[in-house]
Amino acid sequence: MSIKFPKNFLWGGAIAANQVEGAYREDGKGLSTSDCTPNGIFGDIINRDEKQIQSLKDVAIDFYHRYPEDIALFAEMGFRCLRTSIAWTRIFPNGDEEQPNEKGLAFYDKLFDEMLKHNITPLVTLSHYEMPYHLTKQYGGWGNRKVIEFFTRYAKTVFERYKNKVKYWLTFNEINMSLHEPFTGVGLARNSNKEQIFQAIHHQLVASSRAVKLCHQMIPDAKIGNMLLGAIAYPLTPKPEDVWATHSENHGWLFFGDVQARGYYPTYMQRYFKENNIKLEITEQDKQDLKETIDFISFSYYMSCCGTNDDSLRQKGNILDMVPNPHLKASEWGWQIDPVGIRYLLNLLYERFQKPLFIVENGLGAKDKVEADGSINDDYRIEYMNDHLVQVHEAIEDGVEVMGYTSWGPIDLISASKAEITKRYGFIYVDLNQDGSGSLKRSRKKSFYWYQSVIQSNGETLKK
Ligand code: BG6
Repeated sequence: MSIKFPKNFLWGGAIAANQVEGAYREDGKGLSTSDCTPNGIFGDIINRDEKQIQSLKDVAIDFYHRYPEDIALFAEMGFRCLRTSIAWTRIFPNGDEEQPNEKGLAFYDKLFDEMLKHNITPLVTLSHYEMPYHLTKQYGGWGNRKVIEFFTRYAKTVFERYKNKVKYWLTFNEINMSLHEPFTGVGLARNSNKEQIFQAIHHQLVASSRAVKLCHQMIPDAKIGNMLLGAIAYPLTPKPEDVWATHSENHGWLFFGDVQARGYYPTYMQRYFKENNIKLEITEQDKQDLKETIDFISFSYYMSCCGTNDDSLRQKGNILDMVPNPHLKASEWGWQIDPVGIRYLLNLLYERFQKPLFIVENGLGAKDKVEADGSINDDYRIEYMNDHLVQVHEAIEDGVEVMGYTSWGPIDLISASKAEITKRYGFIYVDLNQDGSGSLKRSRKKSFYWYQSVIQSNGETLKK
């Protein structure tokens, strides 16, 4: 049986403002939490109002100035969709202003126009791993209820401005990440306790549902989704204790989807809060707000892991402290490669929520070698993506409703965990080195032509 994806499948790629744009203080942009973690989301937090340092993200791949060229390259690959984010600090530099920054708004007008010119549908994340740094310093980040109002103002402003251009929205990128990295997720100090973190998460969930409501009211023909880090865990052994530990571990991320898709806290969390003495302030109005649920579920998927009740088996990974799967190989960064996992995840999410799904991140971070003739033969990336897409197709055959697939980093960008450029995801190579040197020139890798043919044939050229 040959592979064919649904007719209107949204093929494309995904990037994030803080990992591509650069221009970090240009046109009135304020400092964001991302600007203050120059070595990545797991690196030190540096108050850059006080300390002058440089970060690779300050210029990044200079997408702020080079977006027309980049979008033309995406169009050449046949993209039907591009996921990007708006930097909140371009619109409200400190986060608590009454009036938005017109220059910031104008930039995204130009960007979305450029995409639409090439028939590329924008899919826009309101907050991708960044918020105004000022809100963390002055208000204590999402720990403070006021931030819900600031975020709502920001969401309302961008919905109003781009309502005729953007019909697909996401609220918070990998919202479950706050449990692992509270500064990037909810603007809290890293030594915050569980109660503080869950209170901040609660505020963010309320803000997310308020944005959903606003979007439904202001852009009735738009769709708005959540975004989960799909960190699926399999039981390490069939031992019932491992199976149960894995079930609970998966609650750690499914919980966010449960609230955002169902509109209330699941009972397993009530028990968890009680047993961990976590008392949250949840008002009647919050409960009402949470009832406004998302239209679709989106997620990132890079790897799976294993669950066990033996904590000594946990390994410090790049993103989460995962237990490795003895049956899988890993990337150079230790991320285990599991194509079947994406089929499993798609089925699991669809059975649980019965809402359309959107894969908004997937890809392989690897070191690329530029040959003497300038070519880059990234067969490893092609193999990774081919195998995952074959499994996405299997899931579609299983009956799962999949709206689209935007591969992570279609153009090389600064990685999130450690702010590396050596960890490349792109079909398009960017001449940039870790020390900031390089011409920033773009060139096509072998995978560029491969992805182009996959899109052109609507999946037919994939190899089972
Ligand atoms: C996801 C993030 O966690 O994974 C992206 O949404 C990130 O921002 C991607 O870049 C890959 O992670 P990394 O650390 O390899 O960039």
